[in-house]
Amino acid sequence: MTKPRLFSGMQPSADSLQIGNYIGALMQWRGMQDDYDAFFTVVDLHAITVPQDPAQLREKTRRTAAQYIAAGVEPSRSTLYVQSQVPAHAELAWILSTITGFGEAGRMTQFKDKSQRYGADQASVGLFTYPVLMAADILLFQAEAVPVGDDQKQHVELTRNLAERFNSRFGETFVVPTPVIQGETARIYDLQDPTSKMSKSAESQAGVLYLLDDINATAKKVMRAVTDSEGVVRYDRAEKPGVSNLLTIYAALTGREISSIEDEYAGRGYGDFKKGLRDVIVAEFEPVRARALELLEDPAELDRVLSANAERASEAAEQTLATVYERVGLLRRG
Ligand code: TRP
Repeated sequence: MTKPRLFSGMQPSADSLQIGNYIGALMQWRGMQDDYDAFFTVVDLHAITVPQDPAQLREKTRRTAAQYIAAGVEPSRSTLYVQSQVPAHAELAWILSTITGFGEAGRMTQFKDKSQRYGADQASVGLFTYPVLMAADILLFQAEAVPVGDDQKQHVELTRNLAERFNSRFGETFVVPTPVIQGETARIYDLQDPTSKMSKSAESQAGVLYLLDDINATAKKVMRAVTDSEGVVRYDRAEKPGVSNLLTIYAALTGREISSIEDEYAGRGYGDFKKGLRDVIVAEFEPVRARALELLEDPAELDRVLSANAERASEAAEQTLATVYERVGLLRRG
């Protein structure tokens, strides 16, 4: 039996992923590889919709891929590749852009936020059409399942609309994908500012846990996490955002219920609880970090793995693209 297709991706936007990416994306991806024919992509073409330093972009692309692998996304089971190595992404994006409404694209909240942040003259046309490229990513592989954070839900919704529009205009061509949204249980907040989502662009890095950071630095950040004065380990997102966030991380990394962790630490202080969490995080991060750094020591080998996977992705993508060109009426080279 053939497995349903899955597509997801992450931008190579940092030297190290943080724990939110690890819990929200990588752990989930790792767990879905058995049930799906999965494609995981480092979306470098999306990254360049905002200015990037070329040398750093290349480095971040390798680092992101290495962390996927180190976290258990296996390039022999899943197809793990770099977006720009499969030209069909850009080719399909062009076709899809011709059936996307200008107003429709203009309603994407992420574009509105980003263009406000950078200013209308700084925001590129590529940033505007970013969601169309994302639609192309997904539709190229006929993906049924698309695991994303809820900030990307609107883009998957657009993807569904474009798939349906194309199908009704040109004939049944694309699978209409379904977003697999990570719920509140996987949203990780800043350890120092637990009402804000953890983000590498935070002003202070004291509340952000990076996969590739020195493990002692990470341990210290955990021990210094903001809590409250109640002294009870109990989940209450509104009243106790700091402790609740730590409980979320603990539960996500161990696969335990929050209530069982609350029970374990009943009558004990935050110090004990933080030590427990620190040990959990260190045990989880250490091997991943070691493996990622090992992979990065041999970039030629890493590049070989990525190229071979891009080859596999290309084969699947070209099938869809050939059908699309045919349906649209483009005269193909003989
Ligand atoms: N836009 C996504 C993000 O920033 C990354 C992405 C690009 C993606 N293409 C995708 C995610 C296709 C899922 C499917 O998180």
